[in-house]
Amino acid sequence: MQDLLDSALARITAAGTAAELEAVRVEVLGRKGVLAQLSKDMGKLSADERAARGKFINTAKQSLEGAYEELKSKFEAEALAKRLDSEWLDLTVPAPGARPGSLHPITQIQWEIEDLFRSLGFSVLDGPEVETEHHNFDALNIPPDHPARDMQDTFWLEGHHLLRTHTSPVQVRGMEKLGPPLRMIAPGRVFRNESVDASHEHTFYQLEGMMIDRNVSAGNLIYFMKTLLTAIFKREVTVRLRPGFFPFVEPGFELDIRCLICGGDGCPVCKQSGWVELLPCGLVNPHVLRMSGIDPNEWGGFAFGLGLTRLVMMRYAIDDIRWLQSGDLRFLRQF
Ligand code: PHE
Repeated sequence: MQDLLDSALARITAAGTAAELEAVRVEVLGRKGVLAQLSKDMGKLSADERAARGKFINTAKQSLEGAYEELKSKFEAEALAKRLDSEWLDLTVPAPGARPGSLHPITQIQWEIEDLFRSLGFSVLDGPEVETEHHNFDALNIPPDHPARDMQDTFWLEGHHLLRTHTSPVQVRGMEKLGPPLRMIAPGRVFRNESVDASHEHTFYQLEGMMIDRNVSAGNLIYFMKTLLTAIFKREVTVRLRPGFFPFVEPGFELDIRCLICGGDGCPVCKQSGWVELLPCGLVNPHVLRMSGIDPNEWGGFAFGLGLTRLVMMRYAIDDIRWLQSGDLRFLRQF
């Protein structure tokens, strides 16, 4: 009996792997194992023999199971150590292929121009994209029946609200809130209900500017516009000034630049004309000042509305406005 037990123990401790150990377990401790064999002829034994045999079986069972458990824990610990070794992760390593993001080209130009104007003493104001008819039209001298409203196809909302068609309502808010003297710019998103093509979008960006002070003249306006364009394009650009009509300025101008995409030969962006309307501007209409509570006999001003989207297109030679709102990563990753 002791021999049987010893050889069974030896087989357990000889197992070199978890799989071998499991096979030995079935043979030794299973239903046909050593212990089972030892109990098989119990019925034929005398009472004393049976007691002694029972005792022996219990001790044998304990030592066999003990040896088995000990080895099993050892194999498990080894397996775990091995796994920890192979699955170790350094969570501080940057993920492979991660690309840093970048600012949208419109944001980049907007921030540049904000910095420029801040250095010239202008405040940067913000206004709502959902505007009142009053701020978007009436207070800018565009009354309900005025034909100028047709120039700006409007997305109307309920209750005399609308998606602002330009950033000029922020002029009104600036005058109402801050009063004269005033130097402000207002960059922002504007909306027009028009069909989309290479040079028209329903959503685009403008940057409004306004200065109100004593003795403001067209000379001041032209000085600021030249400073602005030189800073933006960092080179000489050819400009021309045409009379332009906007009900809130008098006189009003259209400042065009020679198309930087085709150099003036004609392309889809300049609609084959060689010139791009970039900067409508003018001296603030006295009536507009008066409506916002500013005395036009004491104060005068100029205002301009820069097409930010168009500016970006000129600077980076983008020949289709639809790229800018496309969210297309092939486009965005170039900036
Ligand atoms: N708000 C005008 C537009 O979007 C542009 C403009 C602004 C004209 C300021 C003159 C002065 O059409």
